Formats: sequence, structure tokens, C-alpha cells
Amino acid sequence: MRLGVLVSGRGSNLEAVLRAEFEVAIVISNRPGVRALEAAAAHRVRWVVLQVSDFADASARDAAIGEALSSAGVDLALLAGYDRLLRPSYFSAFGGRTINIHPSLLPAHGGAGMVGLAVHRSVLDADDVETGVTIHEVSADLDGGRIIAQSGVPVRPGDDAETLAARVLRAEHRLLVATLTSIARERPEGTPRASICGRGSAPAAPECTQ
Ligand code: GRF
Repeated sequence: MRLGVLVSGRGSNLEAVLRAEFEVAIVISNRPGVRALEAAAAHRVRWVVLQVSDFADASARDAAIGEALSSAGVDLALLAGYDRLLRPSYFSAFGGRTINIHPSLLPAHGGAGMVGLAVHRSVLDADDVETGVTIHEVSADLDGGRIIAQSGVPVRPGDDAETLAARVLRAEHRLLVATLTSIARERPEGTPRASICGRGSAPAAPECTQ
């Protein structure tokens, strides 16, 4: 399974994927100079910056992202902290599967503006006792694709957005590696398996505890 990873910033999820030794064919950033690119370089992974200012418009840039993934032979594109909506030109240029990781239990605390600490502030403002992580298919709708995997994370008394974000981020790294492991094991003729780590009464997949 050849991965392409789209990033915009810190790159801790990318690092989790690289540490787990998945095959990353290309890392694409929409912003120059971000830490995620240092992680790619440190792991000797090919990376490219495709920023909108280098193209006629965002649609042309998104087509270039899709073309870069296709020419790198990517099977699965992972949005790991990628901070822009992908336009239809992306989906025309890249025919493979695209998934995203989001730091809440979607559909709760998703959609427009739900990025970074705003997600965790929204959880605290709602007095939720549980939050978590969602990995979902990416479609043209923001945070709207089919949910592949979720993992619950407790909200603890005294949490602020930063402490909650740190706890959720650790769960993100675990769920991402577990889910990619599960996807990589899928047989071509098989139905995609959902890996649900630590939610409700469903038994956790073995990967969830690794
Ligand atoms: C993560 O919280 C991810 O769920 C969200 O953006 C953040 C990216 O963090 N989509 P990092 O760049 O992987 O450290």
C-alpha cells in the first residue's frame, strides 16, 4: 500500500505513520517551511510544496495535488492535518481512496471552523464527557465522508483545550496506525473492515492495543 500524505503544519500524525514504517511515496504540503516537511526529509521521503499562489487558482492547485499523487503511484491518500477543502478537480485527478483524521467523534464538532483548538473548546463548551478521534473517507463535503474508525477519549475534570488536545493527539496516532494496518490487510475482494478502538461495547481490534 503506497501512501501519499497531505500536510499543512506540525506533522505529528505523519511522523506516527513514518515511525510505523508504512510506505509513504510522497508528502505534499500546501505551505512551505512547515515542520511536517522536516519530518519527511528526516525520513528521506520525497516531498513537494504545492501552494495556491503558484497556480491560476485553488482548483488548478488541487488538480496538481491529485496528479502528483497519481504519478507517485499512490493507492491511499491521507489528509494528516491538511487545512484546506479539496475541490472536485482533485477527485478527477486522483482516482484512489482519500481519508482524513479529525480530532473529535464526528459528526460532533466537525464542519466549518472546527480545526485546531477550536474543536476541543467546542467539546468543553458542550460539557461533553467523551470526545475522541474519527478517521473517515473524504468526499467533496467537509468532514462528510463515511466513517471508517473512531476512538473515544475521556474529557477529564479540569481539562482545558490544550490538555484535551494533547490526550486526543495521542489517541490519533494510535488509531491512525491501527486503521492503516487494517486497511493494508484488506483483501482486494473483501469488504473494508471498520476498526473501532475503545468505543462503547464493541470489542477493540487487536491493533488498537498495540
Ligand atoms: C490533528 O489534530 C488532526 O486530527 C487534524 O489536524 C491535526 C494535525 O496535527 N486534522 P499534526 O499536524 O498531524 O500534528
